[in-house]
Amino acid sequence: MTAPKLHICTHPLAQHKLTILRDKETEPKKFREVVRELAMMLTVEATADLLTVDIPLSTPMGDTVGKKLAERVGLIPILRAGLGMVEGALEMLPSAQVWHIGLYRDERTLRPVEYYNKLPVSPTVQVCLVLDPMLATGGSATATVDILKRWGATRIKFVGLIGAPEGVHRLSEAHPDVDIHLAALDERLNAIGYIVPGLGDAGDRQFGTS
Ligand code: PRP
Ligand code: URA
Repeated sequence: MTAPKLHICTHPLAQHKLTILRDKETEPKKFREVVRELAMMLTVEATADLLTVDIPLSTPMGDTVGKKLAERVGLIPILRAGLGMVEGALEMLPSAQVWHIGLYRDERTLRPVEYYNKLPVSPTVQVCLVLDPMLATGGSATATVDILKRWGATRIKFVGLIGAPEGVHRLSEAHPDVDIHLAALDERLNAIGYIVPGLGDAGDRQFGTS
């Protein structure tokens, strides 16, 4: 399936790294390292439309005009699993502000339950990147975008690693203005709401808590 705002990173390096994450033999240390690397790559793609301004400068060889980012970016990791994507995103956007949203999926209903919100009183950035490796039913991502829009954010993008068609559909139905950046769109959800083939539980695999 496709959505108008769905971007899948088909870069060979991204696909190679994603395969390491999918492998059930990959240990948490390696898993965290590769989540960080993929977050860097996907952040580059998700920020391709950031505005810049020209700035005059001098190189050792003469005068020229360079470019500087003209927009501030906020990173919004969804706890827990989104935490692993923060470092990679910050390597690309060292001045980004980071605000944490805590949601967990109720195992019975699969609905997101909010337990933490560290947003400042009003938005101080032009672009928000929601970070979460997994877009399964789409409940957590949709709830986070709801929170950000109520708070006043206007340009929001979702940056994840693997999505299910159900999650992409739900997020893009609820928020058609939100671009979705992933490294893969997988086949389906299983009976307990896990992505197949997926990579398992992204939080447990990063933090060794299976
Ligand atoms: C996982 C994942 C997403 C959510 C995706 O988090 O990191 O936040 O599930 O599922 P959804 O699209 O159906 O909402 P989980 O609730 O397992 O919490 P955790 O990150 O603390 O492990
Ligand atoms: N959350 C995960 O961590 N993995 C899935 O496959 C679905 C939700």
